[in-house]
Order: sequence, then C-alpha cells, then structure tokens
Amino acid sequence: MATRHFLTLLDLSSEELRYLIQRAISIKNGLKAHGPSYSPFSNRTLAMIFEKSSTRTRVSFETAMAQFGGHALFLSPRDTQLGRGEPIGDTARVLSEMVDAVMVRTFSHAGLETFAAASTVPVINALTDDYHPCQLLADVMTWTEKRGSIRGRTAVWIGDGNNMCHSWINAARQFDFQLRVCCPRGYEPRQDILEAAGDRVTVLHDPMAAVDKVDLVTTDVWASMGQEAEQVKREADFAGFQVTEAMLDRAKPDVIFLHCLPAHRGEEISTTLLDDPRAVVWQEAGNRLHAQKALLEFLLLGRVESWPTQH
Ligand code: CP
Ligand code: NVA
Repeated sequence: MATRHFLTLLDLSSEELRYLIQRAISIKNGLKAHGPSYSPFSNRTLAMIFEKSSTRTRVSFETAMAQFGGHALFLSPRDTQLGRGEPIGDTARVLSEMVDAVMVRTFSHAGLETFAAASTVPVINALTDDYHPCQLLADVMTWTEKRGSIRGRTAVWIGDGNNMCHSWINAARQFDFQLRVCCPRGYEPRQDILEAAGDRVTVLHDPMAAVDKVDLVTTDVWASMGQEAEQVKREADFAGFQVTEAMLDRAKPDVIFLHCLPAHRGEEISTTLLDDPRAVVWQEAGNRLHAQKALLEFLLLGRVESWPTQH
C-alpha cells in the first residue's frame, strides 16, 4: 500500500478526518481516565525536523511519542547535514531507512513535497509557509468538544491570509462549514486555495460586519515566521483588525475564540482577550497532543477502534 502522508488536510478524506477527531477525543479521555497506559509505539521513532522555531508542536509531538511508548528525535538544520546542503530527497531516503515517520516544519511547501515524494515512511507537515494542518486537527477537535459537530456552522478568520488561514479554508471544505475570511486588502489568501473551496468561503474586509452572528472567531499573528522584516508595515496595514471582546459580543452568545498561539497581545488580539471565558486557547493548545496522537496512530497503525474501552 502506498505510504500515506499528511501535508495538507486534503491528504485525508472527510470521513478519515472526522474519524481522527473522534479518535483524538477518545485518546484524550483515555489518558485522563487511565494515565499514559496505552503504548502502541514500542520501539518506534519519529524524526522531527525543525527549520523554524516551535514550542507547542515540538512538545506535543515529542510527548505523544513518549506517552505512546516510542521515541522522538529533534533534528535542526544547524546540527544536521541538511543545514550544510545535503539534498532534501537524500535526507528523506536516509531517514526512511531508520525511522517510522518524519515530522517537518519548514519554509517551502514545495520543499516538503519533495521530501515526502522521496520518503517511504509517513511525512507530517508541522507547518510550512503555506499550511499548518496539524493545528486544524486540534482546532476542530476543540470546537467539537465545546459545541458538537461543526457541520453547517459559521467561523470567521480575522487577519492575514497566511498558512493558518489556508488550512482553515481546507478545513471548511473537509468538515463542511462556512468560513468568512476577513483581511486587509492585499493580504487575501491564495486565490487557487480560495477558488477550490467554492461557496464555503467568502472574503470580507470589515471585521465588525464579518463577526456578525458567527459561531467561532479565530485569528493569528500579523507577521508569521520568516516575515519579521515586515512587522512594522504590517502593524500599520492591519490597524482595525485587532480581535476584541466587543467583536465577540457581535457574534453568537455561545461563540468561542481560538488562536493557534503564540499570541501578540495588543496586536492581533486585545490585551485581555485570552482572559475572556469565550477564549478556549489553552484547551486548544493542549489538544495538539491528543490530535497528533490520533494522527500518528492512524498513519502508522491504521484505524484503531478498541482503546480505551477494551484496554
Ligand atoms: N501553534 C503552534 O504551532 O505553535 P508552535 O509554533 O509553538 O509550535
Ligand atoms: N502563522 C504563524 C503560525 C505559527 C504557529 C507562523 O507561520 O509563524
């Protein structure tokens, strides 16, 4: 059977993604009830290549492997031959000989695709300039835990049409909800990604109008990793796009607010927004662990329906 990779949310079917969300919730409940007693990955290794910084992604993947009885290897270009010019494809072939899966956080999505094409073990996108699909597994899981099925609901993305926004667009397609993308002019998401989503996604430019009666509000930093030189210009261009409590007041009364983090208080969110009970960002961050466990299990072992009920 061909190796399955997870480079975008489109690499899995809608049905497989819905399975993963339910499986992640079961795994989380099992961990709470029984502790880290489920160890399906004895002697399995995940290589983690980080070409950009990370707190949540590194800790969640490394902890997932440890709790599942396996091992995670942190590889940075500074300490590996990747940083000295060894071709991506050669690295992928070599790692495939030794490890069971590879997680990559990098700049170029095309580079990640090159890596995956040469890999005979599953490759997971842990963020590229274009997508961050693992974050969306945790986000949809959090939405599901708090409010049930997201099918037919409405979310709004306020901010940059960036990697997170692209993954939210793909999520709207796969999980069948409406997404309003509200961004300053000139910061729209990629046209091809938008067009592929059809009428599930609309682009707006007025944040106060965009949040009207939505079920979920989300945002992200204005300058992503690699765009630090644009920080000052972006702060000016995104004026008026800060998510505030007053914006949430215009949404549905049971609205939730998500942010992939790290957050910049006083920029894309008000200084107090994360203290608002409608913000569920700590649960969202914690869900990275459980959602990625479900993903790793699916890619390495296929569907597992029994645990925690029969263990
Ligand atoms: N949300 C997220 O991916 O966080 P890190 O950059 O800390 O991994
Ligand atoms: N858009 C952000 C997400 C960080 C998790 C970035 O790429 O830096």
